[in-house]
Amino acid sequence: MAKKSTKNVLAAPAKGKLGILMPGMGAVATTFMAGVLAVNKNLAQPIGSLSQMGRIRIGKRTNKNNQPLMKDVVPIQDLKKVAFGGWDIFRDNMYEAAVHADVLDINLLNKLKAPLSKIKPMKAVFDKQYVKKLDGPHVKKGKTKMDLAKAVMADIKKFKKENKCDRLVMVWCGSTEIYIEESAVHKTIAAFEKGLEKNSKLIAPSMIYAYAAIKMGIPYANGAPNLSCDVPALVDLAKETQTPIAGKDFKTGQTLMKTILAPGLKARALKIDGWFSTNILGNRDGEVLDDPDNFKTKEVSKLGVLEQILEPKLYPELYKDFYHKVRINYYPPRGDNKEGWDNIDIAGWLNYPMQIKIDFLCRDSILAAPIVLDLALFLDLAKRSNMSGIQEWLSFYLKSPQAPAGRYPIHDIFKQLHKLENTIRHIGDEDLITHLGLDYE
Ligand SMILES: NC(=O)c1ccc[n+]([C@@H]2O[C@H](COP(=O)([O-])OP(=O)(O)OC[C@H]3O[C@@H](n4cnc5c(N)ncnc54)[C@H](O)[C@@H]3O)[C@@H](O)[C@H]2O)c1
Repeated sequence: MAKKSTKNVLAAPAKGKLGILMPGMGAVATTFMAGVLAVNKNLAQPIGSLSQMGRIRIGKRTNKNNQPLMKDVVPIQDLKKVAFGGWDIFRDNMYEAAVHADVLDINLLNKLKAPLSKIKPMKAVFDKQYVKKLDGPHVKKGKTKMDLAKAVMADIKKFKKENKCDRLVMVWCGSTEIYIEESAVHKTIAAFEKGLEKNSKLIAPSMIYAYAAIKMGIPYANGAPNLSCDVPALVDLAKETQTPIAGKDFKTGQTLMKTILAPGLKARALKIDGWFSTNILGNRDGEVLDDPDNFKTKEVSKLGVLEQILEPKLYPELYKDFYHKVRINYYPPRGDNKEGWDNIDIAGWLNYPMQIKIDFLCRDSILAAPIVLDLALFLDLAKRSNMSGIQEWLSFYLKSPQAPAGRYPIHDIFKQLHKLENTIRHIGDEDLITHLGLDYE
C-alpha cells in the first residue's frame, strides 16, 4: 500500500475548552475528576486510558516507529482544557464527595482541594422510586418530566457560558435505576415527548438527562445498566440532532475479566460447563444494588456477555448447556475495594474436566475512571467527525453495548479493540488494518 502523501483527517480540530457533565457525582465521578486534576499537575499518570497512553499501529510492520500515540493520530481534546460539572442529590462539593467516597488517598485529595471544592453539583432530577435505597435533599421540582428536562437544558446552557466551554459531553455516572423494559412510550420521539409531558412512570430520571443532552446535540454516554439512551426514541433523536451516543454500563472488574478470558477459551475450542461469579462490594453503588429491583438491572447487563461470546447455537457441543450465575453481595467493610471470585468449569480433549479460579481484588472506581475519560474524549472526537447515533466502536468500554436495531452486540474485547483502532485510523485518514493481504507485512 502506498503511503499517503496528504492527510485528510475527518475530525475538526479540538479548539477551546470541553465541558464534561456528569449526572451523579459519587465515587466514579470524583475519582475521574480528581484523577484528571492530578495528571494535569503531574502528580500521577492516567493509567488505563487509551486516549492518553494508548498506541496504535499505522501502516506496515516493516516500517519502524509505526506505533504512535492515538492522540497523535487524531485530534483528541487536551486534558488541560476541560471543565467539570454535573448534578447530584447531595450538596457536597467534589472535595467532600471524594472524601466520602473514600477511594483516593487523602493526601492526594488535599493537594487538589482548591479545584475540587469549586465544583458543586447542580440540583438533580431524581425520584426515589427508581433508586429505592437513596434519598437526598438537592433535587429539582417540576410539574412534568418535560419541565424537568427543560430545567436540565437551562443548567447546561448556564454551565457552558459560565465555564466558557466551546463544546460539551455528558456521561451518566449516577446510580443504577430499577429495571424497566422497553415499552411503547420509548418507541418514537413523539411518544417519548408525550410521555415526558404526561409524567410516564416508564421514563426514569436518567432518560430525562439523556433527552436533554441529545436534544441539544450534546454527546451522551451511559455508564450504568439502566436503559437511559438505549431506546429507539432516543437513538432516533440522536440521529436527528447529529449526536453520538454510547451505552451501557462501564466494563470493569469481573465482566472485564470475563470478556478477556472467554474469547480465549472459545478460540481454542475448549468447552465451558459453567461460570459462577460472585463478589463483595461495600460502596454506595453496592448498597443501591442490594435492592432486588436495582440488582435486576445489573444482572441482565452482566448475564448477556457470555451468551454472545460463546454462541451456543453455533457450538452446541461446547456451550449449549453452560450454566452462568452472577451474584453481587453488599458488604460494607470492603468499601470501593471489591473482591470478585469466579469459578469456571471447563473441559478439554475427550471431555476431561478442569477448573479455573479467579480472585480479583480490584478497585471499582479506579477501573471506571479512565473509562469515563475515554468515553468523554472519544465521543467529543466522534462529534467533531460528524459521526452520530450509536458509536459501536466504543463498545470496548461497555458491559452491555448498544447495537443498532436488528444487530447483536459484540462483547469480545479483542474484536471491540480492533473496531476501536480501525475507527481511529479511519478518522485519522490512515489505512485500515484487516490483517489480510499486504498490510499483513
Ligand atoms: N465503579 C465501577 O466499576 C462501575 C462499573 C460499571 C458501572 N458502574 C455504575 O456507575 C454508576 C456510578 O457508580 P459509583 O460507584 O460512582 O456510585 P455512587 O453511589 O458512589 O455514585 C452515584 C451518585 O449518583 C447520584 N445519583 C443517583 N441518582 C441520581 C440522579 N437521578 N441525578 C443525579 N445524581 C444521582 C448519587 O447520589 C450518587 O452520589 C453506578 O450506576 C454504577 O452501577 C460502576
